[in-house]
Amino acid sequence: MKRKLTILALFDAISPTSLDQDLSAELKTEDWKTEANVLKALQELGHEVQFLALFDDMDLLRQKLQSYQPDVIFNLADQFKNNRAFDQNIVSVLEMQDVPFTGCSSIGLTLCKQKGISKKILGYHRIRVPEFAVTPRGKRLTRPKRLQFPVVIKPLKEEASLGISQASFVESDEAYHERIQFLHEKYQSDVIAEEYIEGRELYVSLMGNRRLEVFPIRELVFQEVPPDEPKLATYKAKWDEDYRTRWGLRNQFAEGLDPALEGEIVDLCKRIYRLLVLDGYARIDLRLTPKGEICFIEANPNPILAADEDFALSAGKAGVSYPALMDRILRLGMSAVRD
Ligand SMILES: Nc1ncnc2c1ncn2[C@@H]1O[C@H](COP(=O)(O)OP(=O)(O)O)[C@@H](O)[C@H]1O
Ligand SMILES: [Mg+2]
Repeated sequence: MKRKLTILALFDAISPTSLDQDLSAELKTEDWKTEANVLKALQELGHEVQFLALFDDMDLLRQKLQSYQPDVIFNLADQFKNNRAFDQNIVSVLEMQDVPFTGCSSIGLTLCKQKGISKKILGYHRIRVPEFAVTPRGKRLTRPKRLQFPVVIKPLKEEASLGISQASFVESDEAYHERIQFLHEKYQSDVIAEEYIEGRELYVSLMGNRRLEVFPIRELVFQEVPPDEPKLATYKAKWDEDYRTRWGLRNQFAEGLDPALEGEIVDLCKRIYRLLVLDGYARIDLRLTPKGEICFIEANPNPILAADEDFALSAGKAGVSYPALMDRILRLGMSAVRD
């Protein structure tokens, strides 16, 4: 029988919180599904769990750790003051406490957050990444010749496909500058423009610190999108159920991959995980071109842990039940070397 743990589950909130905040109403909502799933699993495992939600006051964490000394923090806080760019800063603070925590270290979060930096590192190691160009806020830079149309325009540091729509796919310089300016203004963010990579969209879930485990590959299929139309996991494609139904968008296990190719994908993803200094758990997004080339799109350290999301579904297919997955994440957090 494994030792029962005392756990502090750390959440983020969208408005100021207190130490003894009652979150029972929130935890019943769709927005808090991940938190509710994780809490339930930790309790089922027999661990003692308390929680704290952070909005803009890291001192709450210091106070909480004074009154409650958990064996481990289960970190689900990935924004601060409603800004997701701060996930790495929260983890940096966790690294300075003497309490282990789950998920990725600040270095991996930082390297993956900026969509240009991860590509530079992987490109240096001859891993196929899209050509790209970054345009900082307020600048209007000419598209470099090596960046050929069609191009996908994205906020440099967002997640969950925020700021990504069909209009992100551009085929002229006019549309290129228009979309960049739109993102500069609407999202107040720097922008990355990437070569559009045609192909199947694959999601590979991995976990581990040193020894890595890769779970069965998932795919987003675009069933009803005509072959000559751009296929993008836009914001609507991820989060709008009516839209998903209309265009036949489905997340499912990738079918019909040649076992040799699958082996290549697994090895590549392990390499990427290590090159981007990831630990804990992550999901790597790839495109598989019609010629069978594998191209990196993005790495997501600390992917969404809701029971019905790709990461947990992949683990489940490998025979790791949801509570068992949460337990593994805890143990990895407790054995991670953070300095
Ligand atoms: N270079 C690209 N080529 C083809 N599709 C892309 C490219 N970049 C992004 N996409 C599409 O847009 C989706 C979201 O892009 P991504 O960089 O993963 O942003 P986010 O961090 O918001 O998930 C991808 O899953 C993919 O479908
Ligand atoms: Mg993504």
